[in-house]
Amino acid sequence: MSPLAPSALPNTAPVVVARDLKQVYKISRGFLHPADYLQAVNGVSFTVQAGKTLAVVGESGCGKSTLARMVSLIETPTAGELSLGGVDVVKASPQQRHALRRTVQLVFQNPFGSLNPRKKIGAILESPLEINTDLDAKTRAEQARAMLALVGLRPEHYDRYPHMFSGGQRQRIAIARALMLKPALIVADEPVSALDVSIQAQVLNLLADLQQELGLAYLFISHDLGVVRHIAHDVLVMYLGHAVEQGEKKTIFAQPLHPYTQALLASTPGIVGTGAAKKRIVLTGELPSPLNPPSGCVFSTRCPHVVAQCHNERPPLRALANRQVACHLAEQFVQPPEIP
Ligand SMILES: Nc1ncnc2c1ncn2[C@@H]1O[C@H](COP(=O)(O)OP(=O)(O)OP(=O)(O)O)[C@@H](O)[C@H]1O
Ligand SMILES: [Mg+2]
Repeated sequence: MSPLAPSALPNTAPVVVARDLKQVYKISRGFLHPADYLQAVNGVSFTVQAGKTLAVVGESGCGKSTLARMVSLIETPTAGELSLGGVDVVKASPQQRHALRRTVQLVFQNPFGSLNPRKKIGAILESPLEINTDLDAKTRAEQARAMLALVGLRPEHYDRYPHMFSGGQRQRIAIARALMLKPALIVADEPVSALDVSIQAQVLNLLADLQQELGLAYLFISHDLGVVRHIAHDVLVMYLGHAVEQGEKKTIFAQPLHPYTQALLASTPGIVGTGAAKKRIVLTGELPSPLNPPSGCVFSTRCPHVVAQCHNERPPLRALANRQVACHLAEQFVQPPEIP
């Protein structure tokens, strides 16, 4: 195994297990007004194994970044269970949390804002080692140089400043920095959304290569199913804080059963769906406010297939055709297998 492979978590347990995770924000409306409560994430469950990528997709405001902040231990869940490498995060002692924090690292969308413009790349990469390890300066420099090579940058880049790099190169630097403490999990929040399409492919390939080499688990957040198709093993589709469909990427892309997933896939260029997804479903109506979600199914106000039951009864996430789906009508979208 590579000397840069993650070491901090035992490799028997899944890297992440989340059960019924919730995040509620209290919105103060000023003196004399009762506070509002916003359900940003409303009961989401998933598992990510080493070497695998779970992609979280959905429109703006559906709770993707909130989920990312909980998994990367920036925010404590309001409710639910979360464990990293088999260690319960919610019940962990401060020392355990400190150790767990090293095992999860973040990569953000904006490669311009996330690097300190006054520091050279060498110093940026060595900073996590300086703060978190007892390694001497020579060893830190060696590890930073090895990491530069691993992410496809050149030795002379060590002495340059962030402004001297292109967007794609800066995202390579951000990825390198995230890997310095040998994490088991990378939480990447829209990591290629700010990049040109041709550069996106290069960064996605790099992430895939690093995953192979280091056995990393990824929680990969994106609003773009075209990007997700290249990188994900599993997919979790969110709408207004709820998981509406989740399962293996190939199953969901081949035959999406939730009308929201069907609409997302139909609006993604270059993806030819089958069955229901082949028809062009255009989402109509505004995304409801998470402060005032629809009763019954959260998607009912925009769903082209809506029936009375959808307004009255929230459909539970349930197993159907090799995935989990939350739709009363999902059976009608299951296609019989094709006869060869
Ligand atoms: N700290 C906070 N306090 C109050 N509300 C918040 C807070 N953070 C997020 N929200 C709200 O929670 C909901 C989910 O936000 P989140 O940022 O997780 O969405 P997202 O899916 O990442 O969206 P985007 O695609 O725009 O990044 C939104 O309605 C947002 O306004
Ligand atoms: Mg976000």
